[in-house]
Amino acid sequence: PNDRPEDESERGLRVSDRGFLNTAVIESSITYIDGDNGILRYRGYPIEQLAAKSSFLECAYLLIYGSLPTRAQLSYFEPEVLNHGVMHADAAGFFRAFRYDAHPMAILTSAFAYLGSYYREANPSLQGQNIYTNGAKGDPAALQNMDKQIFRLIGKATTLAAMAYRVRQGREFVVPPTGMSYTESFLFQLDHLSHSDAFPTALTSGGATYRPHPVLVRALDILFILHADHEMNASSTTVLQTGSSLPDPYSAIAAGCASLYGPLHGGANEAVIRMLVSIRSPENVPEFLAAVKRREKVLSGFGHRVYKTSDPRSFIIRKVADEVFAVTGADPLLNTAMALHDAALKDDYFVSRKLAPNVDFWSGLIYRAMGFPMDFFPVLFVVPRVVGWLAHWRQGVKIWRPRQIYVGPSERPYVPLEERQ
Ligand code: ACO
Repeated sequence: PNDRPEDESERGLRVSDRGFLNTAVIESSITYIDGDNGILRYRGYPIEQLAAKSSFLECAYLLIYGSLPTRAQLSYFEPEVLNHGVMHADAAGFFRAFRYDAHPMAILTSAFAYLGSYYREANPSLQGQNIYTNGAKGDPAALQNMDKQIFRLIGKATTLAAMAYRVRQGREFVVPPTGMSYTESFLFQLDHLSHSDAFPTALTSGGATYRPHPVLVRALDILFILHADHEMNASSTTVLQTGSSLPDPYSAIAAGCASLYGPLHGGANEAVIRMLVSIRSPENVPEFLAAVKRREKVLSGFGHRVYKTSDPRSFIIRKVADEVFAVTGADPLLNTAMALHDAALKDDYFVSRKLAPNVDFWSGLIYRAMGFPMDFFPVLFVVPRVVGWLAHWRQGVKIWRPRQIYVGPSERPYVPLEERQ
């Protein structure tokens, strides 16, 4: 109990591990990372094979339920997710209440919490039963309830993201279409390429009826696969931390969304673009790297808490970038990016610190080429990561209540205001 702060010798060892460098908070069978050898697997399957052969929703099933779906399982799961994409008409008012220039992550974070207010059966405190701990123990009714929230959250993630996108443009919302895959439906709802001066209708593949370009659909599907999970990163631990006190999962996902917003996590690919814009051209790369070594700048898109070699996703993404550029035209920043990448990988300063490109080094360039504004990049990370968050959430955790090492003053008497120096 908390009323015994002094003598805790019988409570075992307390370790101080700033930044959780060496603390494993759960045992998990979802995602495996070998940071020294650049290996990433979902449920045992190498990320390279999944990116080449799988679809995003198939990977979602794999991450959440532990095995690749059979045809029957997929033909149940996919429509369950896609049919849950439709939002209540009232939601339009919620989105329109934001300022015209609100950051889409602020809108999306709030939208997930707002979504939870619709579903009483998802709220353990209203249900009077511990639906989520029972679910983690395998209780079928509780699991069914959890699955319903999972279908809803994955299905509505694209809809909420598209609404956050369109409301800032003052455009009507789009009801999710039928007959399209998850990523095609998302691009359809955004419908940004057909309305951008920079991307003429030649990029659309459906003539009079807009249909997202199949190459861009597949590229986004692969990017979603790569971003679906990455074990105990900042946002996933936030979801587990929040979920551990048993709020509805919409609130836990909103918390994860807020964590991902930060520039050291989901904001890194935006930082890469800003960095490349500031470098301007390949001949300025040496000067920029010198500034990094003087610690005046950060080489965004390089370095990772776990990978001490290249992030395996960065190779896949580099290939996707070429496929996207073949459709959209190469990004003018590409040459600078390649010069920076090659120079850093040959430089002792970065090599000795085991700093190599992470997934974000290239992803921003792809999103930019596809016409997304920079502040939408973290949203494109959240949508697929909802799957990983839910996979971890479904496993359940005991309430997380970490301890601290107190280093403040010992007891001292209260000093009245007039006596304070
Ligand atoms: N640029 C310059 N130097 C760096 C960078 C970088 N990107 N990353 C690490 N270093 C240096 C550190 O200054 C430190 O040097 P020192 O030992 O001389 O003091 C050394 O490399 C070790 O780095 P740490 O900070 O200890 O590594 P940590 O694991 O704490 O940080 C992080 C990881 C936050 C990702 C860091 O590498 C970084 O800030 N990278 C840039 C941001 C980024 O790309 N984030 C995306 C991560 S991937 C994702 O979220 C999907």
